[in-house]
Amino acid sequence: MNILLVGSGGREHALAWKIAQSPLVTRLVAAPGNPGIEKLCELCPVKADDAEGLAALAQEIRADLVVVGPELALAAGLADRLAAAGIPCFGPTAQAAQLETSKAFSKAFLERHAIPTAGYGVYETVADAKGALDRFAAPYVIKADGLAAGKGVAISPDRQDAEAEIERMLGGRFGAAGARVVIEEFMDGEEGSLFALCDGKQAVLFGGAQDHKRAFDGDLGPNTGGMGAYSPAPVFTADLVQQANDLIVQPTIQKMAEEGAPYRGVLYAGLMATEDGPKVVEFNARFGDPECQVLMMRFAGDIVPYLLACARGDVSGLPPAAFKPQTVICVVMAAKGYPDSPLEGSTIRGADQDFGPHVQVFHAGTKRRDDGALTAAGGRVLNVCAEGDDIAQARERAYEAIAKIDWPGGFNRTDIGWRALDRE
Ligand code: AMP
Ligand code: GLY
Repeated sequence: MNILLVGSGGREHALAWKIAQSPLVTRLVAAPGNPGIEKLCELCPVKADDAEGLAALAQEIRADLVVVGPELALAAGLADRLAAAGIPCFGPTAQAAQLETSKAFSKAFLERHAIPTAGYGVYETVADAKGALDRFAAPYVIKADGLAAGKGVAISPDRQDAEAEIERMLGGRFGAAGARVVIEEFMDGEEGSLFALCDGKQAVLFGGAQDHKRAFDGDLGPNTGGMGAYSPAPVFTADLVQQANDLIVQPTIQKMAEEGAPYRGVLYAGLMATEDGPKVVEFNARFGDPECQVLMMRFAGDIVPYLLACARGDVSGLPPAAFKPQTVICVVMAAKGYPDSPLEGSTIRGADQDFGPHVQVFHAGTKRRDDGALTAAGGRVLNVCAEGDDIAQARERAYEAIAKIDWPGGFNRTDIGWRALDRE
C-alpha cells in the first residue's frame, strides 16, 4: 500500500513510526514532515493547509490511504477533495470536522441531541457577552469560537478578568477564530481524553489518555496545545468508559450520520468526569497531540488496518484495539517563551541518540540547519516518550532521557503524570 501522511508535528512523527512498522506498507510519504519523520520515510514539502496540493500529491503517488494528522488540513477540506478523487481518507470532511473547528457548532449539536456537556451561550458583541456573564457564575469559561491551537480558552476567576478576556477575544486576538465567543458553565472534575475510530456509521473505542494543558508545573500558567500526556489514564474506569461510549461517543456518530455529515476518522472526546457522570469539554476531529504519541507506543497491533477501515467506511470487522498493559508517558520539551512567543532557532544536541528500548523521542517543531545541527522551529519541539511497568517507572525513564538532551533554549514540565502518581 502507498500511504500519504499529512502533518509535521510530534503526533505525525508517532504515526509515521507506527505506520512504518506495518508489513502492509510499500511506500510512505509525509507532507511536509519534519527531521524526525525524515528518518522513516520520504518527505514532500506540501503544507498541511494546502488541501489542493495535498490532494494532487495523493494522486501523484497513487495513495491507497491518506492519514490526516492536523485539524488545519481537515478544515481546509482535504477529506472532501480526496473523496471526490476516490482516495480513502482517515479524517472527516470539513462539515463533519466542525465538531472541532466551531465550538458554536459542536455545542449546538450536543444540546440538540441531549449529549452531556456544560450549558453555554454564543455571543458576537462585547456588550452581549459581558451582559451574559450575569447568567453564569465564577469561574467563567470564555472560548474563542474557531481554531486557536488549544490556546483560545480562558478560565477567569472573577468578572473583571472575564470582561477583559471577552474584550481581548472579540477584539481580534484570535483573528477570525475569535469573531464569536462561547461562554460556558464551569465543570468541576478530572479531565481525560477518550478516542474512538469512526467509519461514518459506528465507532470503536481506541483507548484513553490524560494530557496536561497548562504550561507550567502544578497545572499553572496559560493553556497550551499540551505539555505532556500518559496512557492509560486512571480516571477512565471501566464504568466511566462505558457511560462515555453509550451517552457520548455512539450518539455523536449516529446523529452526525443522521444529520448528513457522517464522521470518519478519529473522534477525540475531551471529557470531564463530573459528579453527574462524563460530560464533553470539547471534541477534536483528529488524534490529540501529545496523546497520539502515547497511544501509538501502547497500541499492540498493526495500526494500518484500523486507519484504512475508518477511511473505507467499515470498522465492523476489526478486532477490538489491544493496548500493552504498560504505562506510556510523554513529556513535551518546548521552546522558552511558549506558548506566547517561543524562541526560534536555538540549537538542540543529543535528541537523536539511542535512548534504549523503552524510550522514543519524537520530533515536533524541529528543523535541520544546513550544517546538520538540529534547531527549534516551533513552540513544542520534542516529545520524550517512555514506557514502564507503572507511571512511576515510565516517568523516571522519560526524565532520565530528558537529562541527556542538551537544549538550553528549551523547557519542560517536571511533574507530568502527577495525578496518576498521586493515586498510586
Ligand atoms: P477546550 O479547548 O475547549 O478543551 O478547553 C481547554 C481547557 O479548558 C480544557 O481542557 C479544560 O481544562 C478547560 N475547560 C474548558 N471548558 C471548561 C468548562 N466548561 N469547565 C471547566 N473547564 C473547562
Ligand atoms: N493535547 C490536546 C490536543 O491535541 O488538542
